[in-house]
Amino acid sequence: MKTAITEMFDIEHPIIQGGMHYVGFAEMAAAVSNAGGLGIITGLTQKSADDLANEIARCRDMTDKPFGVNLTFLPALTPPDYPAYAKAIVEGGVKVVETAGRNPQPVLPILKDAGIKIIHKCTSVRHALKAQSIGCDAASVDGFECGGHPGEDDIPNMILLPRAADELEIPFVASGGMADGRSLVASLAMGAEGMNMGTRFIATQEAPVHENVKAAILAATELDTRLIMRPLRNTERVLTNEAVERLLEKERELGADLQFEDILPEVAGVYPRIMTQGEMDAGAWSCGMVAGLIHDIPTCRELIDRIMSQAEEIIARRLTGLLEA
Ligand SMILES: Cc1cc2nc3c(=O)[nH]c(=O)nc-3n(C[C@H](O)[C@H](O)[C@H](O)COP(=O)(O)O)c2cc1C
Repeated sequence: MKTAITEMFDIEHPIIQGGMHYVGFAEMAAAVSNAGGLGIITGLTQKSADDLANEIARCRDMTDKPFGVNLTFLPALTPPDYPAYAKAIVEGGVKVVETAGRNPQPVLPILKDAGIKIIHKCTSVRHALKAQSIGCDAASVDGFECGGHPGEDDIPNMILLPRAADELEIPFVASGGMADGRSLVASLAMGAEGMNMGTRFIATQEAPVHENVKAAILAATELDTRLIMRPLRNTERVLTNEAVERLLEKERELGADLQFEDILPEVAGVYPRIMTQGEMDAGAWSCGMVAGLIHDIPTCRELIDRIMSQAEEIIARRLTGLLEA
């Protein structure tokens, strides 16, 4: 399939694996890229710019296909050294960067001067328009369904994607709630040029996470995610567990007085314990409602091939058949 996104990123299929903390290691990105999608290394999971440079080199050893790096801009007391990370990306010869969170403008010149294509992930049309205005090449439009940070507008993709299509001039992919060929065809119908998946890619053979994480996604239904940190305006969609329910109880008790410090035990430094050690009640971890559509652990190639053949089947038979009837 050829779309503006496959052309822009020089990939075979219009499917991107979004940056994921403690999931987006070289193994994950290489597996997706080798299967014809765009794999993405999560920049800030690497503790320093030197570590990121090593991770990029490791990924390069595992694939000769294009892959990207995610740079997430979060509010932080001591922000990461973004220019150093950007330099590692440029020197590593990476051709695509997925930015997310706050305005990525400070690193755009260094990345764009190196000819790197920027896809900015955002949860509202106004942020996508802002990304377009500062020179981003594409957008990843992340609906309310998504795992991770859906923002505070709560607009699901059935509305958000056509709104983005009406307003944007740069191409965009649909993100949040995407799992299969049906998701891809629906995204294309609503004006997207492809789709971005997070949660679905965790439940693959190659995802470098503990088996307990994959099992938790398989066991979960679409009813099992929760929104945490709403009172802090830092909403995150996570899979429910003991720690999450404890955190939500604190939110209910403290109301408007809730401070970030109150929930530190449930959110700070928990990713390695969950993703690497498989301690599934250690804290809150991002997971999308799409868990309800995930029932197996294929290889990335099986997953992407299946998505593409299902999409072709829907377009060529079901939809074309409707016109012929
Ligand atoms: C475990 C996990 C960790 C994530 N970490 C990040 C991150 O560090 N930076 C980022 O931009 N997005 C992050 N995301 C969001 C994904 O890149 C993607 O936008 C989202 O998962 C799409 O929704 P889906 O899970 O319904 O496919 C994360 C998602 C998950 C599930």
